[in-house]
Amino acid sequence: MPKEHLNPPRGTRDFFPEDMLFRNWLFERFKETSRLFGFQEVDAPVLESAELFTRKAGEEIVEQLYHFEIHDRHLALRPEFTPSLARMVSNRAGSIRFPLKWFSIPQCWRYERMTRGRRREHYQWNCDIWGEASEVAEAELIAMIFHCISEMGIPKNVVRLRLNNRALLEETLRAGVLAKTPEAFEPLCVIIDKLDKIGKEAVIEQLCAPEGPVRISRASSQETVDLLSVKTLKEASQNAPPNSSAIESLKKLFSLLEAYGISDRVDFDASVVRGLAYYTGIVFEAFDTAGNLRAICGGGRYDKLLETLGGPSTPAVGFGFGDAVIAELLKEHKLLPEISRNVDAFVLALGKEEQQSAVKLANRLRAEGNAVELALAPMRVRKALQEADRAGASTLYVIGPEERDRGVARARSLESQDEWEVHL
Ligand code: HAM
Repeated sequence: MPKEHLNPPRGTRDFFPEDMLFRNWLFERFKETSRLFGFQEVDAPVLESAELFTRKAGEEIVEQLYHFEIHDRHLALRPEFTPSLARMVSNRAGSIRFPLKWFSIPQCWRYERMTRGRRREHYQWNCDIWGEASEVAEAELIAMIFHCISEMGIPKNVVRLRLNNRALLEETLRAGVLAKTPEAFEPLCVIIDKLDKIGKEAVIEQLCAPEGPVRISRASSQETVDLLSVKTLKEASQNAPPNSSAIESLKKLFSLLEAYGISDRVDFDASVVRGLAYYTGIVFEAFDTAGNLRAICGGGRYDKLLETLGGPSTPAVGFGFGDAVIAELLKEHKLLPEISRNVDAFVLALGKEEQQSAVKLANRLRAEGNAVELALAPMRVRKALQEADRAGASTLYVIGPEERDRGVARARSLESQDEWEVHL
């Protein structure tokens, strides 16, 4: 078999020990932030019925599905966690106490065109609040994102969040260009979401394509795209119908974000609509301010998803935050953490005769709660010092024939180079 066939498929990763150190460090930040905000952890299978994910709005995520048939079942690797979460909530809808706040760190699979920070497999921190219709839920989630980013050591000015309300665009379009075809709103959002990637002209082409899902006139397409250039809430309010509930909701959210002390890191941006069909209200995405990377995270309100799965109408809002873009950002800003292996002690027997004593010492140190690396074979002290240093150990214990006869081990601090003896 050619060697490349044994490698992980393109866009997927092996995780070597140093990769796991970083991954665990990152997940620890996700978990600790979730804990601080009162979220409980959940998980679901990575393999689901393909039907759970196949929506008809033309979303990229559906085209990117890894799926296959086996024993007459059509299965797929999850491209995202939200549909599984909705299923879990739906299955317990009768007994669950709302609001519920759940988080997870699932591995997700998408057959993506690979760019910097976009892979075919990624881990995605998901935080979702179910059963709360007010903007307090959005504010908590956005606060979590900034909290977590700051716990990673990323300075304030490096990440900003862009915010919009899908309902705002919906209100305007349903009163205008989509008056006769309100069902075209979801596919329209999916097309608009590609604006940054494919540009204005291509978006207009897709909106007015006679075979496309939206099929509005060129003039209406142009009008729709023009609405997206609005960058202030004030201007959006002027364009919106009077007493717009979408504007009210945005204003409430901004005033809450002020209370959290993060409103100065959030911008209104009418072009943010998100590429997933199920969002119904406020949507948001965080980006690096230098504009070098794709979205660091994204989410929004999806109050109707549970109904589409046959469950009761339940408000819901959440976000997904991947492990890949943030790693690129940390690298770019030289903020990747130096993580040691957390070994406390390295224990060496100089010869086979001292091995038993070394094992007993390692046992004792471990019983006291120390992480101990026991040299599996004799080696020179110089080599042991290097190994101990590499493992991040603070103390090296050496037992030679003379120490064994006296019932002691020689200890040396790798920090101060002090030496002392311990009784065996
Ligand atoms: P999404 O925008 O598709 O939303 O993904 C959320 C985040 O996952 C992205 O901002 C990015 O950090 C990461 N991500 C997505 N695809 C990739 C990829 N191919 N490679 C690396 N990272 C990626 C969702 O998936 C929604 N289900 C999030 C959500 C939860 N909405 C409500 N609750």
